[in-house]
Amino acid sequence: MTRDLDLDELRRPATPHANESERRVEASLRPLSLAEFVGQGDLVGHLEVVLGSARARGQCADHILFVGPPGLGKTSLAQIVAREMGTSLKVTSGPVLSRPGDLAAILTDLGDGDVLFIDEIHRLGRSVEEVLYPAMEDLRLDVLIGRGPSARSIRLDLVRFTLVGATTRTGLVAGPLRDRFGFIGQLDLYEVDELRRIVARSARLLEVELTAGAAATIASRSRGTPRVANRLLRRVRDFASVKGHGVVDDAVAVEALNLFGVDELGLDKLDRRILSLLCDQFAAQPVGLTTLAHATGEEPVTLEEAYEPYLLRCGLLARTPRGRVATERAYRHLGRVPPRGGLF
Ligand SMILES: Nc1ncnc2c1ncn2[C@@H]1O[C@H](COP(=O)(O)OP(=O)(O)OP(=O)(O)O)[C@@H](O)[C@H]1O
Ligand SMILES: [Mg+2]
Repeated sequence: MTRDLDLDELRRPATPHANESERRVEASLRPLSLAEFVGQGDLVGHLEVVLGSARARGQCADHILFVGPPGLGKTSLAQIVAREMGTSLKVTSGPVLSRPGDLAAILTDLGDGDVLFIDEIHRLGRSVEEVLYPAMEDLRLDVLIGRGPSARSIRLDLVRFTLVGATTRTGLVAGPLRDRFGFIGQLDLYEVDELRRIVARSARLLEVELTAGAAATIASRSRGTPRVANRLLRRVRDFASVKGHGVVDDAVAVEALNLFGVDELGLDKLDRRILSLLCDQFAAQPVGLTTLAHATGEEPVTLEEAYEPYLLRCGLLARTPRGRVATERAYRHLGRVPPRGGLF
């Protein structure tokens, strides 16, 4: 018997859509300092310098933009920036700030040195973005009072602050906005060994007894993503408790993950569907993103941000100028014979 994992649940960001208990557990597992943050070595090293030098000068850190696929630690890092700087954090997001006045209200409410975190910053409207530019550059807010010919603009001075933005892709952030960040940190999918350390740490926090082998198994099936690693750990824990296993060893982890339809590479039902569509239905021809999205019933952006990075990284999918194709490895993984005479 197999039961597919709720894909939505696996990939959903910890936004208001996530259910309350998932959000609470996710929050309890967040690393609280750069020292506790596993992986992303280069990025962490650069941040140490950026934050350390600002602290030494007694100034605010430069504005920071974190870029990377869902679940890799952007929100966690934003919280860490505020903690490391010893200031408080105000949180908002692109879609919430629909009018310039919404942003103006938040900016004028900041305390000196605060960190303002704008999640999904690529979803800010144009007019809201325009309020942000002078605020980021000159700590200045231009507010328009009145309407028509009698309208006039007044200038407000803002206190010092650090803007931390998060986005799933740099390409989505308008050039002028991107240029105003002093530091852009790119997060990449994690190595299995890093995920193993994350799983071991989360198991300690959740008081799950896990063997080293079980941690390695969960890590290797986590698609390079800490959020997925933590969720698989919780499903394995649930399975173990239902089956009455006290300690989770490798065999229990494998049985649980197989039950939930997560294979040895960490692929789930939709990943395998994408690959089998490319291999079978589209007969090894390159396929455009929109067509693939239609065929799977997903949004193009979901495929591109949540599925493709890992399939590309595993060498199961390739992007060609004419579209997406499954690789030879994908054929073998699905137990199919690659077409003769090359793939594309
Ligand atoms: N480097 C890390 N070490 C330990 N745990 C991590 C790390 N990065 C992320 N996590 C865990 O993964 C979960 C997801 O991280 P986070 O919410 O910061 O990701 P995100 O990049 O903001 O995702 P989204 O784009 O969906 O908002 C967190 O609960 C955190 O516990
Ligand atoms: Mg986030």
